[in-house]
Amino acid sequence: MTSTPAKASTAPLPLSHKPTAKATAEARPDAPSASRTACIKTFGCQMNVHDSDRIRRMIQDAGYAEVQRYEDADLVILNTCYVRENAVDRVRGHLGELNRLRREGRVKKVALTGCIGAAEESATLQKTYNIDLVLGTHNTYELAEFVGLPTMRETYTPELPGTEGGHSSFVTIMTGCNYQCSYCIVPTVRGRMICRPLQSVVEEIKNLVAGGTEYVTLLGQTVDAWRHEGKRFCDLLEAVSEVAPRVWFTTSHPSNMEDRTLRTIGERDTIVKRLHLPVQSGSDRMLKVMHRGYKAERYRRKIEVFREAVPDGTLSTDIIVGHPGETEEDHEQTIKLVEDCEFDSAYIFKFSPRQGTEAAVLPGVVPDSVVQRRFLEVLREVEQNAFSRNQRKVGGEEEIFVRHGATDDGKAIGETWSGHAVHVETDAAPGSYVNATIESAGPHVLYARASESRKGSATNNSGLPIPSS
Ligand code: 5AD
Ligand code: SF4
Repeated sequence: MTSTPAKASTAPLPLSHKPTAKATAEARPDAPSASRTACIKTFGCQMNVHDSDRIRRMIQDAGYAEVQRYEDADLVILNTCYVRENAVDRVRGHLGELNRLRREGRVKKVALTGCIGAAEESATLQKTYNIDLVLGTHNTYELAEFVGLPTMRETYTPELPGTEGGHSSFVTIMTGCNYQCSYCIVPTVRGRMICRPLQSVVEEIKNLVAGGTEYVTLLGQTVDAWRHEGKRFCDLLEAVSEVAPRVWFTTSHPSNMEDRTLRTIGERDTIVKRLHLPVQSGSDRMLKVMHRGYKAERYRRKIEVFREAVPDGTLSTDIIVGHPGETEEDHEQTIKLVEDCEFDSAYIFKFSPRQGTEAAVLPGVVPDSVVQRRFLEVLREVEQNAFSRNQRKVGGEEEIFVRHGATDDGKAIGETWSGHAVHVETDAAPGSYVNATIESAGPHVLYARASESRKGSATNNSGLPIPSS
């Protein structure tokens, strides 16, 4: 059974401990040369996007030019996701295609990195598809040696150039996860939690901001579980909000989310007022089977605090439908929770059994047709809510951060301070702000017309209030 997110899939993050290098002896290319080309293909979450940035630095340092098409590449690197089976199916498809291109002599080497690389299944994939190099998540730096760099640096994080053309950057604050959710492969492939020191995070962000970063996203599997030398996540968030012009964080765990953090989101002008708090199920019975460590009531209380502390904020979540043992009553409770929490968006996943997880061998498998119906029922509930919440924004003035510049249709993609995605007609460059009027709204995006644009930091950083949104 595969899983289908109702929206684009956000998701998992950080690193495993197992060194899993499985390079074949003859695989290593010769010394670096400017005539070499490499193509990086990223699957999965923001953490993988961020890991791909490190990989990109390595191949550039090694003298490779980056290309977009497999057939133009000497070396293809697939940076992969293992969290649900459909992610693996996609990678298999790409590996098959790469084998064909290699037979035709168009691609020379293939490397597989990321979460599939850290899973046992990678050994079979390596054999089946003749992959030259397989690396897990904790030893990506070994790619440096593979591409012919003389030194191997543990990580390419420090002074990492910003992503998305420099105006937005991901910053890892913790890796791994100490939870053991029944269905989840992440602790196996990414390892236990390791938190980065506060100073190191703040220094990296200061450097990024000095280099032009306008928007920092703090990354980790359970960022709100971050703690280091007596400091907790809220301390880190406060420190970052003082040095970054705009900041957001993902992903959080309801058991770690402190009311203090929720209030800080509301109080600090530089924090995007958007909370992603995965609930997974609305049924206490299922939450227990999943080992989530909280009850639905506690989750509801957190949301009440958020809605009160951040009245204009947006709330998103992750929900799994069809986990083994899920009954009709459990499902009804999920629907009820979705109704009560009025999510602005949700990533809904059909349960996907992952080998090695507890849930993969649990009895009470839910038939596909039932999973499909439940998926659509949850989706409908989420979309109805999201649509009516978004309608309330129509007619309002918003300050919008431009994330991606206008395409052929003249529309750029941006984000309001409350975290709404907006299509806005403007030629403003990515990384700048535009003031715009919301003209219409769908369940996923707002549509706006810009009235004024400016480069760089938001007005709230120059002391003016954030326009209400
Ligand atoms: N099946 C379906 N969904 C899953 N997720 C994690 N593991 C599985 C699985 N085996 C979902 C969870 C998590 C999100 C990133 O992916 O909802 O929060
Ligand atoms: Fe997976 Fe649970 Fe950890 Fe999230 S908290 S990464 S779902 S084990």
